[in-house]
Amino acid sequence: MPTRPRLILATRNAHKTEEIRHILGDRLEVLDVTSFPDLPEIEETGSTFLENARLKALGISRRIKGWVLADDSGLEVDALGGAPGVWSSSYGGEEGNHTKNNERLMQEMTEKAERSARFRCTLVLAKEGVEKAVFTGTVEGLVAESPSGNGGFGYDPLFIPEGHTATMADLGAEVKSTLSHRARAIRAFVVEVEGGFINL
Ligand code: IMP
Repeated sequence: MPTRPRLILATRNAHKTEEIRHILGDRLEVLDVTSFPDLPEIEETGSTFLENARLKALGISRRIKGWVLADDSGLEVDALGGAPGVWSSSYGGEEGNHTKNNERLMQEMTEKAERSARFRCTLVLAKEGVEKAVFTGTVEGLVAESPSGNGGFGYDPLFIPEGHTATMADLGAEVKSTLSHRARAIRAFVVEVEGGFINL
């Protein structure tokens, strides 16, 4: 079997890695930065998804050989002026604590009639410290009144995608991989690769 092109994800979030692997299937060999223990933590000091994805993609690709893809993503809630947005992962006060994040979101949304929201994903592809391409994906939906479901991660138990009545966490991995913000951004990347515009 011919060797597959290798893609290194600039993330330590096992859920993101698993979802991206699942969407890509066996086209590419997908690793993440947990396979490179000497790499430093990249600080996400940007104020947009694009700035943060760029920081991660360039910061990691300067230090290792090969193609690097960074995902920066989050939930934007209209009734909260777009919060938690780029601060999605620390909204509850503690980086990466999904339970606290969901508790704060529920609290902020108490008695809010307007519940529209969207997940956004920005991907930056880089090689040897040079940005090669940007891909984005969005999924519109509503913030649920209370959490439901065990699938996915993060705000999935509180997000009902457009066209559905169950949360992303209820819908599960197969459905999520067809309609999520991340799936849409990854498919845009795949179109470029399969079209020969990106030569991995
Ligand atoms: P990042 O690692 O800085 O991109 O932060 C991403 C944060 O956004 C996660 O910690 C989650 O809180 C939220 N998020 C991003 N994608 C998803 C998703 O697919 N489902 C649920 N929450 C997500």
